[in-house]
This record gives sequence, structure tokens and C-alpha cells, in this order.
Amino acid sequence: MAIIGTDITKAIELLTRGKLVAIPTETVYGLAGNALNEEAILDIFGAKNRPQFNPLIAHVDSLGKASQFVTEIPPIAVRLAKAFWPGPLTILLSRNRRIPDLLTAGSPLVAIRIPNHPLTLKLLQQLPFPLAAPSANPSGYISPTSAAHVQAQLGDKIPYILDGGRCKVGIESTIIGVNEDNEVLIYRLGGTSLEAIRSLVGDVQFAQATHEKPDSPGMLKSHYAPQTPFRIGIVEEMLPTYDREKVGILHFSQSFSAVPSKQQRQLSPSGDLREAAQSLFSAMRELDGLGLSIILAEYVPAEGLGLAINDRLTRAAYQE
Ligand code: TXA
Ligand code: MG
Repeated sequence: MAIIGTDITKAIELLTRGKLVAIPTETVYGLAGNALNEEAILDIFGAKNRPQFNPLIAHVDSLGKASQFVTEIPPIAVRLAKAFWPGPLTILLSRNRRIPDLLTAGSPLVAIRIPNHPLTLKLLQQLPFPLAAPSANPSGYISPTSAAHVQAQLGDKIPYILDGGRCKVGIESTIIGVNEDNEVLIYRLGGTSLEAIRSLVGDVQFAQATHEKPDSPGMLKSHYAPQTPFRIGIVEEMLPTYDREKVGILHFSQSFSAVPSKQQRQLSPSGDLREAAQSLFSAMRELDGLGLSIILAEYVPAEGLGLAINDRLTRAAYQE
């Protein structure tokens, strides 16, 4: 099992030796290693059982450091970075030769973000290299939002988990790029809302992905999935089909009398989408641990962080 603690010196020592450390961010916990060290990058792919065609995000603590690893930062990207960093926004930029091919899976673009967590910012400030960090979960499973989540699944594969408490945002960063026409391209919805991005830069475009060859593999249709079968729709309409089964319910704000309350998780009693995002993944994990035969979920309102929440629910429910 990994040691869980708040010792930054210990984390620095391990990372400097090429070892992996789980780190807290405001979105989800990351499985971090030296982004310039190919051995460390390979270990990240191995620990997560993640295909090497799926590139990793490089985390830094300043725009100045980000600029050391890219050929240029388009003005519109600078505006977004200044508005939202540190925060749940990842920006795809043209990488320079300091970034290993392995980190970006051969892509000319590198994903960069400044996470907004005091412990991890302090760590990054003291490291002479960026941290490669995908979400600290086995590939395809639900992202971790607490140190205990990381311990449960990757604890036997890493020496140390830096404990930064429960993640405040709770869903992964929004990923954007800039196209040839200097328009913002959305690759993944996440913790920075579309409304917030549009209010700064106006209209945005959406990157297209196919199941076989996604532009950003986080766009794979099946992802973030619990082990228990998961369905999404109108809960009242789905319930009769499963009336002989042990059903779990993931609902936004209203519970269902037909199902025992311990088999239900409420994302936000007050109907607040930020609170719903924060509790989404831990609620999914809890339901997944109850030995249920099916989990029924409902969509949340499609505005603000609701779009990213609905995206994660849809992927959790996707069947080949
Ligand atoms: O909030 C987050 O973004 C968290 C925390 C730890 O920072 N990280 C995270 O990493 O969610 P991960 O690896 O689970 O998801 C990153 C996504 C993947 O879908 C990957 O395909 C995409 O970013 N990505 C990374 N580099 C890319 C690149 N060069 N081009 C396109 N997509 C990229
Ligand atoms: Mg992930």
C-alpha cells in the first residue's frame, strides 16, 4: 500500500528519482511523474494500464514555465490562461523539443495546465521539471477525488500519495486548443464552463472525434465507467424494467421512494451544479461498491458544469 501524507519534501525526493506520486488537484487526483523522464512516463502508462496512444497532460506552476516547453502561445490562449490559470483548464499548444514524444503520443501538441491546489502548486514551484499526470485511476474507470480513492486502486503500484483532501471541483479539466483561424476548439468539457470560456472569447468550435481514432482519447465513448451496469435516462421510466433487481439510483436533487435510500446518492440537495460536480465521482464509486445489479442515473440540467457532468454520465453508460 502507498503511504498517504502531506510531506512535500518526500514527494520531491521520489519524483526527482523518477518515481511516481499521486497528487491532489482541484479537479481530480493525478498520477504524477517527471514529464521529461521517459522511464517515469512509461511507468505511468503501466500503472494505469493505459494505452500509449493516449497522451498525458504536463502540469506546471506558471505561464512562464509553460512557455519553456512550447514554440508559441497564441494570444487567445494567453488570454484564456491569464483568466483561468491556475484552474480547471488544459490548453493544447505546439510543443518544442524538450517534450518527449512519449508524453504526447507523437502529437505535435502538448497539453498543459496549472492546477489550482495549494499543496501541488507548492510542489511544482520546487521542481525543475513539469509533472505528467493523468487522473490517478486504472484506465477507463472513474477518476479519484480523494486520497482514499487512489489508495483503493493504485495503492500497490505507487510509493506515496500526497493528501490534499477532497477535490473541490470534482470533474476533470476542460481541454481546449486553438485552430488555424485562431478559434478556440473544445476537446473535452470539464471544470471550466463553456459559458465562462465564451464570455471571454466569444464563439467556440468543437473538436470531432470518432470512437476508433479520437482527437483526444478522453473523448472515447466508453470511459469513467463503474463496474456495475449503468443506465441513464428518466428514472421513473426505467424503474419498472428492473423491479426484481437490486437497483441503485444516482439522482440530482430528488430521491425515489420505490428504492431504499441507502441505495441512492443525491448529487446536490439544493440543485447546485458545482456541488453536483464535486460529488459525482465519489457517489458513482460508492454505488459501485454496494453490490447492486444496476445503477440508474438521471441527467442534470444542461448548463454550466451540467454539460460536463452529463458528458461523464453518458460515457459511464456507454455500451459497445
Ligand atoms: O483535470 C485534469 O485534467 C486531470 C488532472 C490530474 O489534471 N487530468 C486528467 O488527465 O484528466 P487524463 O490523462 O485522465 O485526461 C487527459 C486527457 C486525455 O483524454 C488525453 O487524451 C487528452 O487529455 N490529451 C492529453 N494530451 C493531449 C494532446 N497532446 N492532444 C490531444 N489530447 C490530449
Ligand atoms: Mg482520466
